[in-house]
Formats: sequence, C-alpha cells, structure tokens
Amino acid sequence: MCMKTRTFVDTNLTLNLLDNQLSKPELLIQQLALIALTVILIILLAIFTVHRLRVSDPYIKNILSLTGNPVQGHAIFQMNCAGCHGLQADGRVGPSLQGVSKRKSRFGLIQQVISGETPPMPQFQPSAKEMADLLSYLKTL
Ligand code: HEC
Repeated sequence: MCMKTRTFVDTNLTLNLLDNQLSKPELLIQQLALIALTVILIILLAIFTVHRLRVSDPYIKNILSLTGNPVQGHAIFQMNCAGCHGLQADGRVGPSLQGVSKRKSRFGLIQQVISGETPPMPQFQPSAKEMADLLSYLKTL
C-alpha cells in the first residue's frame, strides 16, 4: 500500500519533470518570436514616422503636389547640372544620371539636390516648381 503510493508520486514527479523539459524550448521559441515581432513592429513604425515627417515638410509637400514639366526641367538641368552631369546626363565630373529615378526615391533626389551633402555637387535652392520640373525630367532618363 505504502509502496504503491510512493510509486505513484514518483511517476507523477517524473512526468512533471518531463513536462517541464518539453515546455521549455517551446517557451523559448515563443519568447523569441515575440521579440522578433516587436522588433519588426518598431522598425515599421520608424519607417512610417520618417515617411510622415518627410511628406509633412511643407517644401516637399509642395513639390509632390505639383505636376512637373519635363521640358522646363530639361532647361533647368542644362543650365545648372549639365556642366557636371553632361548635356545628356550621361556623366562627366558627376555620375551618369541614366535611370537615376529607378535607383533613388523622389525624396532621395530632392535631398541630393538641396542638401549639398556630397561635394563637389553644390547645394541648390530650386523653387518647389523648379524642383518638380527637375524631378519630371530626371524621370525621363
Ligand atoms: C559641380 C558639379 C555638379 C553639379 C553642378 C551638379 N552635380 Fe549632381 N553630382 C555631382 C557629383 C560629383 C555627384 C556624386 C556625388 C557622390 O555620390 O559622391 C553627383 C550626384 C548626383 C546625383 C546622385 C546620382 C546617383 O546615382 O545617386 C543626382 C541625382 C544629381 N547629382 C543630380 C544633380 C542635379 C539635378 C543637378 C542640378 C540641379 C546637379 N546634380 C548638379 C556633381 C554635380
């Protein structure tokens, strides 16, 4: 009688231990999945916020609301940019700009023109309309 109870307790203990061992890796995977999900959410939120901030910049908002004229943009390009990027935008001092609007977003292109972050390319201050025209010309390349 006494033996029986003990065996029962032992078996129960062993089962409990086994249970714990089984559930631990699962718990770990669950925790990792939760962490991964949180990180992904934070990254998405950051991208979304940066995008919102960019779009809410009044100058950029203005540019994006305008329809550029590529002929006008070409004229602006020849006066300001062709000296370095070539008359056909195929590159001289500056790199060729063929297909540049596929490599760079509109934000990236605007940033490139107005920031002056990559000397020797100077910092330009085109009006929103001029920038929209330039963008529409760059898109044709
Ligand atoms: C004094 C020479 C110079 C002038 C003028 C100039 N650029 Fe540039 N541009 C450069 C150089 C050099 C680079 C490469 C910068 C780097 O990435 O290090 C460049 C890079 C660029 C890029 C990025 C190309 C890429 O593949 O990422 C764009 C777009 C661009 N220029 C557009 C323009 C436009 C539009 C104008 C006129 C408003 C202009 N540039 C005027 C020299 C010039």
